[in-house]
Amino acid sequence: MERTFAIVKPDATAAGFTGRILARIEQEGFKIVAIKKIFMSKKQAEGFYAVHSARPFFNDLTSFMSSGPCVVMVLEKDGAIKEWRNLMGATNPAEAAEGTLRKEFGKNIDNNATHGSDAPETAATEIAYFFSALELVG
Ligand code: CMP
Repeated sequence: MERTFAIVKPDATAAGFTGRILARIEQEGFKIVAIKKIFMSKKQAEGFYAVHSARPFFNDLTSFMSSGPCVVMVLEKDGAIKEWRNLMGATNPAEAAEGTLRKEFGKNIDNNATHGSDAPETAATEIAYFFSALELVG
C-alpha cells in the first residue's frame, strides 16, 4: 500500500477548515497513518521546501508556511500519491476542478490549503522530515 505526505496549510487551519479536510480524506478512502499539528519556523519551512529554493516564490512560500500552524500527515491508499494530488486539485485554486480541496478551500496559489508529495522519492523524504518510523502507526 502506497504512502504519501500531506499538509493542511496555515490558511486552511486558520479558516477552520481542518476538520472538513480530514473528513474528506477519510471519505475518499485514505487511512491516516500519522498526524500532528505543528508550527514551523522559517528555517524548518526553508528546509522542507529546499527543492524550490531557487524559485522566485521561495521567500513568500516559506514565510507563509511559518506564519501559523499546519497539520502534517502521512496518508495511505492504493496509488496514494496520485490519488491525493487528484483530491487536492491544481496548485492554483483558480484552475482547480470542482469537487477538489483546493477549489473548495484554497484562496490563491500561495494560500492553496493543502500540499502533497509529487513522487515516491519526495514522499519518503517529506515523511522523514516530520515523522520518525515509530510515529507511523498504520
Ligand atoms: P505546494 O504543493 O505546497 O508546493 C510549493 C508551493 O509553492 C505550491 O504548493 C504553491 O502554494 C506555491 N507557489 C507559489 N507560486 C507558485 C508557482 N508559480 N508555481 C508552483 N507553486 C507555487
